[in-house]
Amino acid sequence: MIRDRMNELIEILNRANYEYNTLDAPTITDQEYDNYLRELIKLEEKHPELKRSDSPTVRVGGEIVESFGKITHEIPMLSLSNVFNESEIIAFDERIRKEVSNPEYTCELKIDGLSVSLLYKNGKLVRGATRGDGVTGEDITHNVRTIKNIPLVLSEPIDIEIRGEIYMPKDSFEALNEERARNGMDLFANPRNAAAGSVRQLDSKVAASRNLSSFLYHLPEAEKFSLDSHYETLQFMKRLGFTVNPNIRKVSNIDELLGFIQEWTDKRNTLPYEIDGIVIKLDNLMDQKKMGYTAKYPRWATAYKFPAMEVYTKLKDIRFSVGRTGQVTPNAILEPVLLAGSTISKTTLHNEEYVTLRDIRIGDIVAIKKAGDVIPEVVKVLIERRNGTEIPFEMIHECPICGSSLVRLENEAAYYCKNPHCDAKKIEGLIHYASRDAMNIEGFGDSIVEDFYNMGYLKSFSDFYSLFQFKEELMELEGFGNKSIQNLLDSIESSKSNSLERLLFALGIRHVGKKTAKILAMYFHTMDHLQKATYDELVSVRDVGSIIAKSIVSYFENEDNNRVIDELRLAGVNMSFLGRPIELNEAFMNKTFVLTGSLESITREEAKEKIERFGGKTSSTVSSKTDVVIVGQKPGSKYDKAKELGIMIWTESEFISKIEIS
Ligand code: IVH
Repeated sequence: MIRDRMNELIEILNRANYEYNTLDAPTITDQEYDNYLRELIKLEEKHPELKRSDSPTVRVGGEIVESFGKITHEIPMLSLSNVFNESEIIAFDERIRKEVSNPEYTCELKIDGLSVSLLYKNGKLVRGATRGDGVTGEDITHNVRTIKNIPLVLSEPIDIEIRGEIYMPKDSFEALNEERARNGMDLFANPRNAAAGSVRQLDSKVAASRNLSSFLYHLPEAEKFSLDSHYETLQFMKRLGFTVNPNIRKVSNIDELLGFIQEWTDKRNTLPYEIDGIVIKLDNLMDQKKMGYTAKYPRWATAYKFPAMEVYTKLKDIRFSVGRTGQVTPNAILEPVLLAGSTISKTTLHNEEYVTLRDIRIGDIVAIKKAGDVIPEVVKVLIERRNGTEIPFEMIHECPICGSSLVRLENEAAYYCKNPHCDAKKIEGLIHYASRDAMNIEGFGDSIVEDFYNMGYLKSFSDFYSLFQFKEELMELEGFGNKSIQNLLDSIESSKSNSLERLLFALGIRHVGKKTAKILAMYFHTMDHLQKATYDELVSVRDVGSIIAKSIVSYFENEDNNRVIDELRLAGVNMSFLGRPIELNEAFMNKTFVLTGSLESITREEAKEKIERFGGKTSSTVSSKTDVVIVGQKPGSKYDKAKELGIMIWTESEFISKIEIS
């Protein structure tokens, strides 16, 4: 009787575990689960002789081993060969194609955990083992049993060995490290180390508390189960009760394969666990057999490894640079390291505060991280690697180039060199003038501008336009020939016909970025108009606030700046806006519009374009900042919201009549 009840409870709880952890579709509540579990624990305590090895009560841990037993992998647990770039992926595919015609591959995520082998006898989990050296591993059964999505019983009573990865989800890793920090314990460097540390615990209660999880991806003897392909094998594994990673794709050519890799290179940060690459497996099991193995790896699979996103290196020195605005920036000079595919030897430390908050010292070993497209950052210091010779950071108070005293502006972390004749500022200003988003003078990279400045050819912006007079001399310079100088002169010449916004951005007026330059050029059309604009006229322009307006006024109050502009004008640089001008229209100027419903006589794109041309702005959400909502057929909730907020509403025909007036 009691035995029957215990068997029944085990069945209910194992099923509930599977539904909850593997299918993500529970059919009983947590409360019910806890009640069944408590009932089973009580019965097992009373009748220890009836306790079954596959009882879900093992999930809570408790079993303690004295040491890890050694186990032998009957079939060695091999690792994977690596590829790091497109050409190596193509070479892998070509090697396969030599022996297999029209191969198909299954692409999988490469889970950053530790590999595990699970052994089932008669459908029951009897052993979990680490890879070890591939032949001899360690018995970690007591800990594996605590991992909730590893089935203790399979849906079929078969003998099977199955392999996969144990990992720690990112949020569990962060919570664990936070707790360890609170208790003054050493932190784990990453989720993989934390997972490895957790399964190598003698007391299974520790592993049970660590919220580990698993993905299974390999069946060494798939042919025993009359499976034909790896893809099918994964489906079979799912049916047995294992968690298989859902992000898999079967591909049949190199473009699809590269597409999968690109997709996950972009999306990897959105996953709740870490991956370090993509595994590419030849799909057909007969073909796998044909390709065979080397001593270390299968020939039928490989792992594309993502470029490392975080690396450690030594910070050799901190040097200061002066930007075109005069801002003085501390830079980390690093022992060169490879990070995300490029070698890094220098990176910005932003400002004094950034360095002191992290207590970054010269001689420290630091972690450099790159996220997405941003420039690499020094994210932390490895304090434990200090040996006492590190030199604390000290901010400088004089310009490293011209020696004048630095000034710290109110509410800003940065220090500035205020000397207008400081060489560093001038060089940076010239580099900015020629840069791609500014005057786009091709060929003028940082070092050429600096060399030409130091040789006296380039001192101010207008000097670009008289460089042609020195053509013969320049051709004599080392590294330059007729052709390269002619190319430089050609790109200088074509920069003369840029539209006004490029010049406005190139001048380096404080607070005038690319977007503001465009708005100013559209509104004022010519440099002349802008030079004469008053503060009031400037602030009335959409997106121009008081800080920008003040900065522009003060720029044009400075005689030196006006002289530079005169010189450029004289050199033939275009001073007007060449795009489609704004046709100011009172009904639209400086107002924010929201469109809702479908418009009949005009497309949405055209409507937006008109609104912007007449000096208005469009937005997709209705708020108190909205001035007008234009309502077409079948308007949505934006219409209701507009009525609720008392915002002005125009019908489509009202809108059209207002555009037609202009
Ligand atoms: S297949 C014989 N698939 O990566 C094939 N391995 O660097 C065995 N790994 O030792 C491995 N995700 O620990 C395979 N989807 C995946 C994987 C994966 C992570 C690990 C595994 C392996 C290592 C090789």
